[in-house]
This record gives sequence, C-alpha cells and structure tokens, in this order.
Amino acid sequence: MDDRQRYDQATAHLDPPFAVLDLAALRSNASGMVQRAAGKPIRVASKSIRSRPVLERILAMDGFTGTMAFTLPEALWLVSTGVRDVLVAYPTADRAALAELASDTTAAQEITVMVDRIEHLDLIESAVADVQNRNRHEIRVCLDIDASFVAFGGRFRAGVRRSPIREPEQAADLAAATAKRPGFRLVGLMAYEAQIAGVGDDPPGNPALTQAIRWMQAQSRRELIMRRGRIVQAVRQVTELEFVNGGGTGSIEKTVREKAVTEVAAGSGFFHPRLFDFYRGFTGRPAALFALPVVRRPAPDVVTVLGGGYSASGSPGQNRLPQPYLPCGLRYDSDEGAGEVQTPLLGQAAEDLRIGDRVWFRHAKAGELCERFASLHLIDGDKVVDEVPTYRGEGRTFL
Ligand SMILES: Cc1ncc(COP(=O)(O)O)c(C=O)c1O
Repeated sequence: MDDRQRYDQATAHLDPPFAVLDLAALRSNASGMVQRAAGKPIRVASKSIRSRPVLERILAMDGFTGTMAFTLPEALWLVSTGVRDVLVAYPTADRAALAELASDTTAAQEITVMVDRIEHLDLIESAVADVQNRNRHEIRVCLDIDASFVAFGGRFRAGVRRSPIREPEQAADLAAATAKRPGFRLVGLMAYEAQIAGVGDDPPGNPALTQAIRWMQAQSRRELIMRRGRIVQAVRQVTELEFVNGGGTGSIEKTVREKAVTEVAAGSGFFHPRLFDFYRGFTGRPAALFALPVVRRPAPDVVTVLGGGYSASGSPGQNRLPQPYLPCGLRYDSDEGAGEVQTPLLGQAAEDLRIGDRVWFRHAKAGELCERFASLHLIDGDKVVDEVPTYRGEGRTFL
C-alpha cells in the first residue's frame, strides 16, 4: 500500500478538511534528529509543534530536554499543565504575564525569559513592581546573541534581525548588568544562526543561488564558531550558565560540534514541512499533512479543492504555499495560487480525481498548520489511533 492509499484508508471515516500526523514518520524524524545531535540534548521548539499532546509525546522520547516556547503566556500555560524547563525564545512586553511569572513559584522556577538590552530588564522590573515583595520570585533570564552573518563591511547580511548584542564585550556588559540587578538571575545564552539552520543549502533549479548559499553558510559557520566561543567565555567569566542554546532543525549536526554550545533547539524537523526538503545534511519524512476535498471540476484536467490558502509566514514567495503532495503531479493555477476558500489544481493527476476525493497537502512550515485545524488525527500504520487538539483546538492562539 502506498502512502496515499494508506492515508485515504485510515481516514475514510473523516470528512475533509482535516489534518493528520503520521506517527511512524514523526518517530523516524525524531530519531534522525537525535542521531544528528550526537549526544547533546535537543530543546523542542514549540512554535513548530503547536499541539500540547504532541509536544508531550516528543518530550517523552530520549534525547529531548526542555521546550523553547514562543510567548510568555504560552509558557505559563504549558507549565501550568506540567511541562518543565521552558525557554521563551523571544522577548516579551506582556506585563500581566510577567507579573504572573514573578508571583508563581513553579512558573518562576521553570520559565526563562529572553532579553537583549537593558530596556528589557527595565520593562520586566516595572511589570513585576506591583507583585508584593514577599511573593515575588527571581526572574530567570537568557541573553539573546546576534548570530547573523555580516560581510563586506556590513554591506552583506544574512540571518535574522534580532539581538543587537554581537561582540563578547557587549555580551559581558549586559551579563554583568543583569547579574547585579536584584530580582534577576542570568542562566543562559542563546544564539540562533537562522541563515544556516533555516536556509536549505540545496534549493531546486538555481545553481548560482545554491553556490551563494553554500559559500555564505561556510563563511558564517567559520565566523560563528570563533565568535560564539569567545562570547560564551566572556559571559562565563561574569556568571555561571546553565545552558548555551544554538541552532535549529537545519543545523543540528553542525551546531552541536561547537564546544561552547550545550544544547540545540529544533522543532520543524518533527513534522518535516516542505521548506525542509532542501538540505544536503539530512532528510525527513513528511509527517504532518492536511486533506482537502475535491468539490469541483472546471475542466478535464483541473479540479478545485475547498480551502487551501494556508500560506506560511516569512518573505512572500511561491515557496510559502502549501505543497499539493498526494496524488503526485498536481500544481497551482498561477493566477489563483492557493485560494481563500477554494483552490484549483492542474495536472494530469487531476483527471483521475472525482468529486469527494481528497488531495493531501504539506504546509511550507511546521507549526503554522495547527493554527488552521482544531485537531490532529494521529495515524499509525493504516489506522487513525487518536485525535489530539492543537493549540487552537484548546482555544489558545498565542500569535
Ligand atoms: C530562536 C530559535 N531557535 C531555533 C529555531 C529553529 O526552529 P526550527 O527547528 O523549528 O526551524 C528558531 C526558528 O525560528 C528560532 O527562532
């Protein structure tokens, strides 16, 4: 039985649209990631999962320690349900959530927030000021370091614009300022090299771009190994650190080779969405899919499915659209793309589809799929073995 038959058979009792997670593919992806991490723990990026039961399943597997959350309210919620060791990877300006963090013993023990400038510390301090002194807990803090690649005197940049902290001296100064402030405890460093971890080095159909990406990534790695090492050394002279976090799905085996890095973050690799097909260093199995029903046939080689316009975030482009996955050989109409309420699909494969059949898609990114569906149907072999809520299904939409 091929995958399409297996998925169709397993979900024959369901009416699309719905989303599924293939557990065998998830397990295989997870074990590939653990192998690549070569003994260093992987912190699970929840933004790329966005389903609590799935996150818990992953955290129960060997090799995964801690969660990387994307908002503080999310982290507070996760901790209230028993998740431990949660690093909020993006700074927060949510005053109510900060006050809650400072006043909740378990949350304050389990959650670490991100800062990259004194202003963040000021904001946190003012947000927790109303929490009575005797009920106020220390806030665990991680420093975010800029891991982007800059060349030609600043005229070329690759990576994400996040932290202004780039040099060892800057990091040590902020570490010292944090460490000496009452109410804060500096426990970690994070430096995410998006230009390596999130950029496939084997993109299709553009050899010049491929060469440029490989050149950039090689230079960036060389530069980062030295700089990250020096930054960690400088900060460790100011204070002990519990962890130094780096990397992402696309860089696991590279990031863990750096001695200064104690753990790597990863999330997308579990679902293995479309954008992660284009790396030389690893492969994965598409694990998260969604099914849409064929509802029209405008022409013999065109079918129209209901819904579909679930574009991924990021710089807009074709590669942000979901991939019509099964049956193979379907493509978008270039005038319509993936539509708000319906999506025409062209190609020979359309000829064999009938009204009521389903087309299986992959999202371009991982967790954003879960903002579209209230649940994931878990498939093991040729059966649906469970249905679990997404964040949205639990009424939680953090971003
Ligand atoms: C701070 C940080 N670490 C790691 C990652 C990697 O996540 P993933 O493995 O899902 O690509 C990201 C993704 O944006 C990130 O922002």
